[in-house]
Amino acid sequence: MPAPTADEVFADRNIVLIGGGSGIGLATARRVIAGGGSVVLGGRSADRLADAAHALGPRAGWHRVDTTDQLSVDEFFGGTDTVHGLFTTAADYVTGPMSELTVAQAASAFDSKFWGQYRVVKSALPKLAPDAAVVLMSGAAGARPAAMAPAYSAANAAIEGLARGLAVELAPITVNAIAPGTVDGHLWNQRDPAVREAAFAAYRAASAVGRLATEDDIAHTVAYLLTSRVTTGSTVFPDGGYAFH
Ligand SMILES: NC(=O)c1ccc[n+]([C@@H]2O[C@H](COP(=O)([O-])OP(=O)(O)OC[C@H]3O[C@@H](n4cnc5c(N)ncnc54)[C@H](OP(=O)(O)O)[C@@H]3O)[C@@H](O)[C@H]2O)c1
Repeated sequence: MPAPTADEVFADRNIVLIGGGSGIGLATARRVIAGGGSVVLGGRSADRLADAAHALGPRAGWHRVDTTDQLSVDEFFGGTDTVHGLFTTAADYVTGPMSELTVAQAASAFDSKFWGQYRVVKSALPKLAPDAAVVLMSGAAGARPAAMAPAYSAANAAIEGLARGLAVELAPITVNAIAPGTVDGHLWNQRDPAVREAAFAAYRAASAVGRLATEDDIAHTVAYLLTSRVTTGSTVFPDGGYAFH
């Protein structure tokens, strides 16, 4: 059978992108739509989701969901069709040094980013196709700890362990993690410009390739993991070589 072309690689595939109303999730949605697939976007803000789905066109749907709330996640998947791909960028956490954060603040990276993704995959299980692909969002800080954010680094390392564990439990469904470094996009654009530019300059210097990734660079890696039938249990670093450099 000939390999699918770029504009049909997602044909007849339904991809759920929780957090897909903005940033990396939205960039991934654009690639899925361009590849002939359909998307269901999830997030807390109905306005953000409706605007994103409208821009993506008729093969994009959306539903509100809060990944910190198990009932909300269960309700989300109760209303979805068969899921061929699942990627969750939804997360809302505080980072900082152990000496400054309360334990509750430090735990927010686990509560939101680790357990949020755990809840999503667990609720999605009855809807996952036998050839589905799950991509978990980690971050390069799991391998190369960010300055003054030890609990956030640990949460990312835990997510990568979860990907390996689920790759065994859910096979032949594939489960992988991606670990981007600093991305020039929506998340950082909301931050103070001086802080952002200092962080961007430091990242360029620390990476091997001397540049930041765009959201579409990350979406390119996610699209690969959503379509590979043999890569599973891996963590992929679309980080410009930051983690090892
Ligand atoms: N951007 C980077 O530089 C970078 C680097 C490494 C890793 N990451 C990881 O990427 C993820 C963030 O993705 P992004 O960069 O694309 O940021 P983003 O544009 O802020 O996207 C996050 C999305 O998640 C939604 N969301 C947040 N909390 C949610 C919740 N509890 N339930 C449901 N939806 C929720 C937000 O929409 P609502 O507010 O409307 O819910 C938003 O659309 C995080 O896990 C972060 O650790 C990012």
